[in-house]
Amino acid sequence: METKLLDPALDPTALAQAAALLRAGEVVGIPTETVYGLGANALDEDAVGKIFAAKGRPQDNPLIVHIADFDAIYALSPAVPDAARALAERFWPGPLTIIVPKSDRVPAATSGGLDTVGVRLPAHPIARELIRLAGVPIAAPSANTSGRPSTTTAQHVLRDLTGKIPAVVEGGACTVGVESTVVSLAGDTPRLLRPGGVTLEQLREVLGEVVVDRALREAIDDSEKVSAPGMKYRHYAPKAPVTVVRGAPDATAAYIRAHADAHTGVLCFDEYAEQFHGLTVETFGSACDLAAQAQRVFDRLRAFDDTAVTAILAQCPDDTGLGLAVANRIKKAAGFHIVEV
Ligand code: TXA
Ligand code: MG
Repeated sequence: METKLLDPALDPTALAQAAALLRAGEVVGIPTETVYGLGANALDEDAVGKIFAAKGRPQDNPLIVHIADFDAIYALSPAVPDAARALAERFWPGPLTIIVPKSDRVPAATSGGLDTVGVRLPAHPIARELIRLAGVPIAAPSANTSGRPSTTTAQHVLRDLTGKIPAVVEGGACTVGVESTVVSLAGDTPRLLRPGGVTLEQLREVLGEVVVDRALREAIDDSEKVSAPGMKYRHYAPKAPVTVVRGAPDATAAYIRAHADAHTGVLCFDEYAEQFHGLTVETFGSACDLAAQAQRVFDRLRAFDDTAVTAILAQCPDDTGLGLAVANRIKKAAGFHIVEV
């Protein structure tokens, strides 16, 4: 299959072409402010099946459904809680996915067989225009091959999915860079399932109590010196194995210098790059600029795949604010192989 790059800046018919593909039950790479998504008609089981096939994604992993106006949520959920409205008022359009009870219109293929559905109203103008033109809610996971780092440029999508999908829409580099925060309102207490562009602190301002899901809490547990490698959790991963070095940046830089050899890749904060002369270094932002770190982290993890490194040692922010999301992605890339210094 030929994969077209549709660029609305160069071709005024680009979005109409992409919308026609979506209406015809095809999958299209779509820019959002978080990461690129692999979109299809969320209400069409066959179309959704093509997403799973293109990504190589396990069938029981539910998809997020993207809408262009708040009121579209009522067609997806028979019981939209007041808390969802409060969250939407503060954070939509934006990097937040809200899990609510699912209506029968949403096929089991979309929800991974669950009785809930994740809904998001993205901020990227191209994403919203495309959803409007398509006239249906759009299911979209991140547009990467399953297990690989998420895609934050159209070029990343082409790299993973050329030949497997008919088109990618060009929308520039994603401004947030990590996926949306996923919060479930389906239980008694709001629950954070994935940290992302909206921080836990911000969620608590609106919701009061928010439980941090156990899997996430264990992943951010600082009490253990070294976590188990846990290869089954490997995700967002470059080809070379990653080890996260956690601690104060000066200390982690010293640890990396002591443990690196000529084949080691180093993922580090901008300020520390000069300490790793002779090594393959990717910088992902200043130690004090979490927004830059979020924007760049997936691109820099992917960059190691163009090098010959056999192992990667990574610096990582702490869990404050957006740091929770950035650290989560790096730790997952490492299969939770973490060294505390
Ligand atoms: O920023 C994003 O959320 C991007 C862009 C494209 O919108 N999408 C994205 O989708 O990251 P994906 O499929 O890569 O990640 C969705 C996450 C998965 O961890 C999935 O298990 C969870 O959200 N999820 C979706 N629906 C759910 C549900 N009903 N219950 C629990 N978890 C759900
Ligand atoms: Mg993903």
